[in-house]
Amino acid sequence: MAKRIYFNAFHMNCVVHQSPGLWVRPDDKMHLYTDLATWVELATLLERGKFDALFLADVIGVYDVYRDNREAALTQAAQIPVNDPMLLIPAMAHATEHLGFAFTGSVMQGHPFTFARLISTLDHLTKGRIAWNVVTSYLESAGRNFGKSGLPPHDERYEIADEYLEVCYKLWEASWEDGAVIKDRQRGIYADPAKVHDVHHEGKYFTVHGCHLSEPSPQRTPVLYQAGASPRGQQFAARHAECVFVSGPNPQVVGQIIRETREKARELGRNPEEILFFMYLKVITGDTEAAARRKYNEFFEQISYDGALALLSGWAGIDFGQFDPDQPLQYIETNAVRTLMHAFAKADQSRKWTLRDLAKFVGIGGGGPVLVGAPEQIVESFQEWIQVGVDGFNLAYAITPGTYVDFVDGVVPVLQKHGLMQTEYQEGTLREKLLGSGYARLREPHPAAQHRRSLANTLNVPAAHPVRSDGADSTAVAK
Ligand SMILES: Cc1cc2nc3c(=O)[nH]c(=O)nc-3n(C[C@H](O)[C@H](O)[C@H](O)COP(=O)(O)O)c2cc1C
Repeated sequence: MAKRIYFNAFHMNCVVHQSPGLWVRPDDKMHLYTDLATWVELATLLERGKFDALFLADVIGVYDVYRDNREAALTQAAQIPVNDPMLLIPAMAHATEHLGFAFTGSVMQGHPFTFARLISTLDHLTKGRIAWNVVTSYLESAGRNFGKSGLPPHDERYEIADEYLEVCYKLWEASWEDGAVIKDRQRGIYADPAKVHDVHHEGKYFTVHGCHLSEPSPQRTPVLYQAGASPRGQQFAARHAECVFVSGPNPQVVGQIIRETREKARELGRNPEEILFFMYLKVITGDTEAAARRKYNEFFEQISYDGALALLSGWAGIDFGQFDPDQPLQYIETNAVRTLMHAFAKADQSRKWTLRDLAKFVGIGGGGPVLVGAPEQIVESFQEWIQVGVDGFNLAYAITPGTYVDFVDGVVPVLQKHGLMQTEYQEGTLREKLLGSGYARLREPHPAAQHRRSLANTLNVPAAHPVRSDGADSTAVAK
């Protein structure tokens, strides 16, 4: 039996996510992004297609790097206006039963105490279908929105993220013991105070003294995604991530990132094969190759070059408005997404990229390659990514819902016929659906599990007490 491939839809709570210019088409619905019905319809479609999750990106600043102003971003709706991703989830969860919801949250916004409670709330409301894409932001405007002169330096942002997660782990894993919630209506006792503990965290960036306000949610710690493949980004992924979102121009560049990250995870004592890598792709398909190509050409004609450069400049932290579009790209180290310039100006040995090439690539593909073809051809093309270690795909759209309707009706049946995609969902939480029934909780030596152990140590009980797949502790905790 072939190994199954995982599929997420890659989206954002805004008009233009990764296809600048296409929102004006009569068959694109994203100008209705403020309407809950748009999202509920999308979630229902994805569940019909047995997608693993809807993956929502987010930014907390404006794209004002291109030409040093936000004009292009605003006129082209390039990820502005952008609404909060978390608030979409309960309505979509209510309309579905199995679809996961991975959303992006930057550690540059809010305090981990507030954030940990928001996630616990969502994990409860979705019955354990939440994943968090932990990001460190790349727009300097995001720093200014939160009272700073800009963003902290690149590597320090990952230090902040490490501590942010440490606070979250303590709240999710070590504040409420398994068994703290009694819910005894006859005796009128809800929780056992002896089993609810204060977290005492005094770090470089955050201080928390108190207990988590939410009772343990089905997953406690949500499934953790990470995106960003600079050396420091990979180190962060190797320590924390269960799923990594990767991008790059070709399998050779992406394969290298995957090998390096898995190696770093192995050095930390983790099983590198338990980390799933999701590749950024866009798929344009139709009944025949010619039909798919016609669609692609039509989309390509409608790309907004200015919208693409606004996005690209924001991601790279470079004002591309100042560059000759036909000069080969040079690598410039910035405080933004280093992965991007590294992939195109350094790691890709197969060709020399100019700015014009890259803008066209981004205009139609956003941050990744585009596969064009009939369903059988698309399924075949997935293989070259699987061979370099990719486990799944985050599929961006050209238009919504059209791109996903084409995929669900055209490509999914072919994948399923070849045993490459699930035909039924697994029971359980998102983590169990992804990894299997033995994976209800994060395992040692993951730092989240170590915080669980630190609770056990405090209480003087054995470190690795068995945990049932429903998340309940299967042994009594001796005190
Ligand atoms: C494929 C990919 C997707 C990303 N998605 C987001 C996002 O939605 N929001 C965000 O603020 N940052 C996002 N990032 C930025 C990263 O989290 C990180 O802050 C940035 O890439 C800098 O790290 P790096 O130099 O290690 O790439 C993304 C990065 C990559 C490579």
